[in-house]
Amino acid sequence: MAEKLQTIVTQISQITAEFQRELAGAESRNDAEQLKLKYLSRKGPIQNLFGLLGTLDNQDRPQAGAELNRLKADVQKAIDAKIESFYVETASIESFDPSLPGQDWPVGGIHPLMVVMDEIKQVFAGMGFRIEEGNEIETDYHNFEALNIPPHHPSRDMHDTFYLGGKYLLRTHTSPVQIHVMESQKPPIRMIAPGKCYRKDTPDASHSPMFHQVEGLCVDKGVSFADLKGVVQAFALKMFGRDVKVRFRPGFFPFTEPSAEYDFSCFCKGKGCRVCKNTGWLEISGAGMVDPAVFGFVDYDPKIYSGYAFGMGVERIAMLKYEIPDIRIIYENDLRFLEQF
Ligand code: PHE
Repeated sequence: MAEKLQTIVTQISQITAEFQRELAGAESRNDAEQLKLKYLSRKGPIQNLFGLLGTLDNQDRPQAGAELNRLKADVQKAIDAKIESFYVETASIESFDPSLPGQDWPVGGIHPLMVVMDEIKQVFAGMGFRIEEGNEIETDYHNFEALNIPPHHPSRDMHDTFYLGGKYLLRTHTSPVQIHVMESQKPPIRMIAPGKCYRKDTPDASHSPMFHQVEGLCVDKGVSFADLKGVVQAFALKMFGRDVKVRFRPGFFPFTEPSAEYDFSCFCKGKGCRVCKNTGWLEISGAGMVDPAVFGFVDYDPKIYSGYAFGMGVERIAMLKYEIPDIRIIYENDLRFLEQF
């Protein structure tokens, strides 16, 4: 073999051995990248040997060229594989088993009471009612006085509440929102006001010291009790379907005249159950025509305007809709209950 060819062949095996040793010692992607630079750059040892090809005899050139090309390709492949191996390690693809079942992340949901609340809002919005926000901390004036309930009126007994000192208290119903709205807006008014209410009630199957109501108020020229009945009836139909019956009974509230209490027929269809205490009816709340005395507090002229108002116990509606036998279950946050929705 020609001497020059021999030198190149020897160098090829030296470079190969050296490269293998260094490649085995590479411990990071960075090490491997450095090797790539060292061996494959234009000033690297392999490129250097390519430069010597021109010094060979013509007949030796093809063999030397072929061996150099193979060396270059081998080094390139080995380094790329090494670099790749570090990526694989970081992503730990080797330890990923796609046949295992996925990880189960618990997904929360909207509380059933809020689902019902949203549905109520939607039904009334569809009938042209605006949604108003009220305050859970109210003044005695808005919660009682302006609703025609003076300080020593006996109806305050049923609304015993949490007094915060001074004139402030936790509202016992959503009716004070009627006053806020009429104080700040002129008729025509068509609004509902959903929210929390508080009373010093001992919890039992149908009472809770914190509960939710939706207040409704409509004031305009020529509004009548028939409109009130029609709206409540339409609501019941939308919310429960054709089966539910609505019943108005005479009632008394200082801020409506005449007043009524109204019931929806129970899901037990009169067979009798715990929720309706075997009456077949579930009391939803009170309603009536806005008392002219209330218009006096907000400077509306009762000779021009009339209106109706109604309350709605949201828990009652939820109990009826989902056949929940005890109001306390709604607040216990027991997953066995919540997961059913
Ligand atoms: N606010 C009354 C209650 O909570 C219900 C009601 C609302 C009655 C509107 C008449 C008109 O008992």
